[in-house]
Amino acid sequence: MPTNEDPAHTPDALYHAAQRGLTAMPDSARNMMIEGTKRFMGTIVEYKDLMMMYSCAIREIETKFEILNTEFRVRYHRNPISSISTRLKSTKSIAEKLARQNLPPTPDNIEAHIHDIAGVRIICSYIDDIYLIAAALLKQDDIVLITEKDYIAHPKENGYRSLHLIVEVPVFFADHKRNMKVEVQIRTIAMDFWASLEHQMKYKQAIPNEAEISAELRECADTIRETDERMLAIRKKIEAAADVPTEDEILFDKISRLDVKI
Ligand code: GTP
Ligand code: MG
Repeated sequence: MPTNEDPAHTPDALYHAAQRGLTAMPDSARNMMIEGTKRFMGTIVEYKDLMMMYSCAIREIETKFEILNTEFRVRYHRNPISSISTRLKSTKSIAEKLARQNLPPTPDNIEAHIHDIAGVRIICSYIDDIYLIAAALLKQDDIVLITEKDYIAHPKENGYRSLHLIVEVPVFFADHKRNMKVEVQIRTIAMDFWASLEHQMKYKQAIPNEAEISAELRECADTIRETDERMLAIRKKIEAAADVPTEDEILFDKISRLDVKI
């Protein structure tokens, strides 16, 4: 191993050696540089591989939700899920998040300390669908619940509401199985509308009247919560008001399922 005392390995000597070109460098310095490059390339490849596995985990979870929605559409003529969006955390956000935790950016640290690399957002029309869909996912025997944060039952101070789950899902690759973490956020259309506006404010540097806008957003969050609850109550009233179907109606309802797009 070269030592710090070796004049051939002082930063200056290495710099000038690099300028003269690798071939002109002392063998030991050249080997060090090649080793460094190999390690760096290895880390990049490992990082890319990890991101590939997270993006596959996203697809596993997205498919599970799509299947649940298809089942509800065919069996009960309704879509509990209004839309699904997914995202893989950007390299910049990963680097920033690790830096905030004073952790070096290694693939091991990414996996151990960041639980939202893979993100799936589910938008429902009604609050009860959020819990219905979450329960249907969590009872699947390959899903492990890591953490659950219910910001609907316990909204954040600023008014933010959503159900957050961190789950682990097994993903099968050619020669191994890997359990991958995915962050699932489930919210209503109205909650999503609110969160996107609030998010915009968070990422603006300096907003004049920020306190005023925050207070206004807080008020909107209350209005949205009330509207979500009223919409659900109305839907339930409509469902309860439906007449008891005759045998013929039940039969025709079953037949009509044949025409639902699968
Ligand atoms: P990170 O914020 O991702 O570091 O995680 P955390 O440990 O604080 O978890 P939390 O479950 O509170 O938030 C995770 C994600 O939910 C965030 O990255 C946002 O996408 C969303 N979120 C949480 N709080 C808010 C909020 O106040 N406003 C908005 N618009 N989104 C939020
Ligand atoms: Mg996050």
